[in-house]
Amino acid sequence: MLTLVTIAVGPVSITAAAKPPPVKTSGFVSADMAVIETIVVAFWAMLPAYVPNNAAVVAGGGRPIDGGRTWGEKRVLGDGKTWRGTAAGILAGVALAAVLSAIAEPASSAIGIDVPAFTPFAAIGLAAGAMLGDILASFLKRRSGRQRGAMFPGLDQLDFVVVSLPLTALLAFEWFRAVFTWEVILVVVILTPILHVTTNVIAYKLGLKNEPW
Ligand code: CTP
Ligand code: MG
Repeated sequence: MLTLVTIAVGPVSITAAAKPPPVKTSGFVSADMAVIETIVVAFWAMLPAYVPNNAAVVAGGGRPIDGGRTWGEKRVLGDGKTWRGTAAGILAGVALAAVLSAIAEPASSAIGIDVPAFTPFAAIGLAAGAMLGDILASFLKRRSGRQRGAMFPGLDQLDFVVVSLPLTALLAFEWFRAVFTWEVILVVVILTPILHVTTNVIAYKLGLKNEPW
């Protein structure tokens, strides 16, 4: 119910609408829900980009992509970037996107949050972009004189986001625009380093990785 309050100040008359006080709890609940929804959508949408790195660690080995070549006395990429690891990573990401797409509808109704299915181009953009970002990071590490396995704070945690999001936007623009709102992108930028650090420490403790980063 709106009550009109009229205050007469000399010749000027100000009319203000005195609204009833907002129901606080419902306001907070809906704000929290929006944040949770954004986090769930961001995590779901990024899964095909998160998994390739871990699949590469498990499946990696064999012939390095750079074939042992050097550039200015330094390896181009190093032994840590292999064809097998890269192929396994991309396949794992695309396969996961297919599985998530198949269960997107039942999952959405089960959790009450609309999670997206992936178009084939979106799946490829996310998975291949993640691997490409990781390879680009190794290239930058070698150029800056860092040995294989050396830490590069910032780059280590966000390398795959930096390439997978633009590549996905390029390959599947409409899908990208619908799913990656600026709120989702913000959550991805905050969530990714946290997840990256956590999963790498776990992989290190399990003996899958030589370094905890
Ligand atoms: N891996 C792979 N192919 C890739 C990425 C990773 O085979 N494209 C495997 C390698 O066995 C690698 C391991 O996963 O050693 C860990 O990956 P990562 O930490 O990215 O590589 P590093 O060995 O740390 O090498 P770099 O310093 O170049 O990142
Ligand atoms: Mg490493």
